[in-house]
This record gives sequence, C-alpha cells and structure tokens, in this order.
Amino acid sequence: MEEKFKVTPWEVSGKIDYNKLIKEFGVSRIDEILLKRIEKHTGKLHFMLRRKIFFAHRDLKWILDEYEKGNKFFLYTGRAPSGPIHLGHLLPWIFTKWLQDKFGVELWFQFPDEEKVLIKNNITFKDTEKYLHENMLDVIALGFDPKRTHFIIDTKHANLMYKEACEVAKKITFSMVKSSFGLNEQANIGSIFYTSMQAVPAFLPSIIKGKKTPCLIPHAIDQDPHFRLTRDIMPKIGQYKPASIQCSFLPPLSKAEGKMSSSEAQTSILTTDSPKEVERKIRKYAFSGGKDTIEEHKKKGGNPDVDVSFQYLRMFFEPDDEKLKQIEKDYKSGKLLTSELKEILIKKINTFLTEHQKKREKAKKEIDKFIYKN
Ligand code: TRP
Repeated sequence: MEEKFKVTPWEVSGKIDYNKLIKEFGVSRIDEILLKRIEKHTGKLHFMLRRKIFFAHRDLKWILDEYEKGNKFFLYTGRAPSGPIHLGHLLPWIFTKWLQDKFGVELWFQFPDEEKVLIKNNITFKDTEKYLHENMLDVIALGFDPKRTHFIIDTKHANLMYKEACEVAKKITFSMVKSSFGLNEQANIGSIFYTSMQAVPAFLPSIIKGKKTPCLIPHAIDQDPHFRLTRDIMPKIGQYKPASIQCSFLPPLSKAEGKMSSSEAQTSILTTDSPKEVERKIRKYAFSGGKDTIEEHKKKGGNPDVDVSFQYLRMFFEPDDEKLKQIEKDYKSGKLLTSELKEILIKKINTFLTEHQKKREKAKKEIDKFIYKN
C-alpha cells in the first residue's frame, strides 16, 4: 500500500516520495549534464550537489546560459521568523553561501515576519520580532558577504514591497491560491495574500536597478508552490520567471524521513544547543539503523539508509566522500557500532556548533550592515 505524505509550504508530513514530488510539482531532476555545466564554473561540486541533496530545479539551464553571456543572476532565499533555527534550516543556506562565493553574486534574503502571524494561530508579532533578531544572527554567522547580501524584512521594507506585492496580487485569483496551497473558504484573507509578498524579492532587485536581472532561488522543496505561482505571474507584469533549485529535508532525529521541526525540540538540534545537549539528544533520540544487540549487529550489520546519524553525516557533516563511504561500509558490515557512529556525529556537530555560536555572537554587531537601506 502506498503511504500518504503531504508537502505544502505550511505542512510537511509522512514519508516523502521525492520522485513523486518531482512529477507532482513539475520540477526537473538535476542531471549529470547540468552538474558538469555547473562544475565548469565552480570547480569541484558541492557535496550537496554530488549527493543529490539538491536534486531538482526550474530553469537552471537558462540561468547558466545568461551567466555565460555575462548576465549575472542574483540569489534569493528566506526565512519566516517564528522560532529558533535548527540544523535543517541551515542546510539550504550553507549551499546558498557556496553559490554566492562561487558565482560572485548578490543574495537577497527575505524575512517575512508577517507570514507565520498570518498562517499560524499561536504566533504573534511579538514572537516574530524576537525571532527575527535571533534568526538573522544565524544567517550572518554562516559567513555571507555583507557587501553582497541584503536582508529585506517585510514589515520594515513594506514601503518598498507593498506596491510590487499588489502588482502580483492583482494577477492571482482566489481559486489559484486554493489549489496551490490547499486553502479553503475559512482561510483568513492575509494568508491568501501572503504569497504575493514572497514573490516580490524575485524581481525587486530588477525594479531597484531598473534592469531585468535573472533570479535563482535555492530552497527546500516545500516552498515550490509559492514560486510556481510566482513564475506564472511574472511574464504578466513584464518580469523574468525566477529559476530555482530545490533540496530535500534534513530528517528529524526520531526518524529518517519527514522534516526536522523546531516545534519538536526533542527531535531537532538547535544552533544554540550546548555540547551536552547535542550529546544527550543524539544518544537518546537519533533513530538507529543498527541491530538490537551488539552480537547481532556485528553479525548482520546496520542499515545506513534509515539511520539518522548516518543521514546527518551524508547530508551535512561529512563532506569527504571517501570518509563517508568508509563509515557506510563499516556500518553495513557491523564493524562500526551504533554507539560509535553516534560518537562520530556528536563530535562533528559540536565542532560545527562551537564555531557557529562564536560567529553568532560576533554577528550581533553586524546586523545593521546586512539590512537593506532604501
Ligand atoms: N516561507 C519561508 C518560510 O516559511 C520563508 C521564505 C521567504 C523563503 N522567501 C523565501 C524560503 C525564499 C525560501 C526561499 O520560512
């Protein structure tokens, strides 16, 4: 029997079938030819491309065509501040930073601080204000170039955005939103309008510069409905359709499927977690693909495909292909025990987070440099 799963910008549940999503959403798989073409410009590919963690796209060929003609694109991604940042959030941003460095391009980073106020029952503007600040620190800590990175905050840059959002909204009907997001007649009208705000940064730089500029949006696959709609509308207001590149989700600790979520503190690792907390969470909650007893594990070996610790190494913490392969082999053969695999991961996460937390502290003085001044 087929398992049910759901992927929308506001709900991800069940065991996600990414092949099915590619078909349903109408995105294209990133093939070897495209990878070769990217490699020509970047040198060695990022492991998230090599391992197909970024697995799908829209119009990436066009972005490269334009780039090769000397017409640089800009990057656009974002975060709706509504809670603390966990490792799953960082995954696409780390890749975005790599793109910024390799292609030498601008990044427009949107903080739609109204999104979750409109969508969720229990989030207020007081919450989003606090998390806006906290979340900006995490983004800055990843090392984006302040000269080429612009934060736009919906409520603070409303003067710049609202007119453009209305141009978009005028071309979207209620029935389009209903079918794209699964909203019904009971949905509040703010949630129906919201997608037009998320469309704006895909062409705002073109408006500001007075020159149509290609846009590439790196994002987790759940955001695609917003940009599918955006792409439909853009030609109607005389703008380019944004291109996009999609990644899969870092799973929660409890299961090697679905999506890490900060509303489940026990199954997510936050960027502010202490080494002790990381240790405790991984040891206690990280779902293991190992066998029940050490004897059995040594005889039969573990299953890395369902092992959350292994998946975190593959998707985030072990960029070295050779090392990853060795770990996989040893785990499958039973030579590497679950407890040992977990220790490898704990060390990696804690090394990363210690650095990240230092940079996060420093970022407190840098916020102003990143906020777009109009
Ligand atoms: N809707 C996203 C969220 O829930 C935030 C967001 C705004 C975004 N613009 C984006 C995400 C562009 C990816 C790309 O966090």
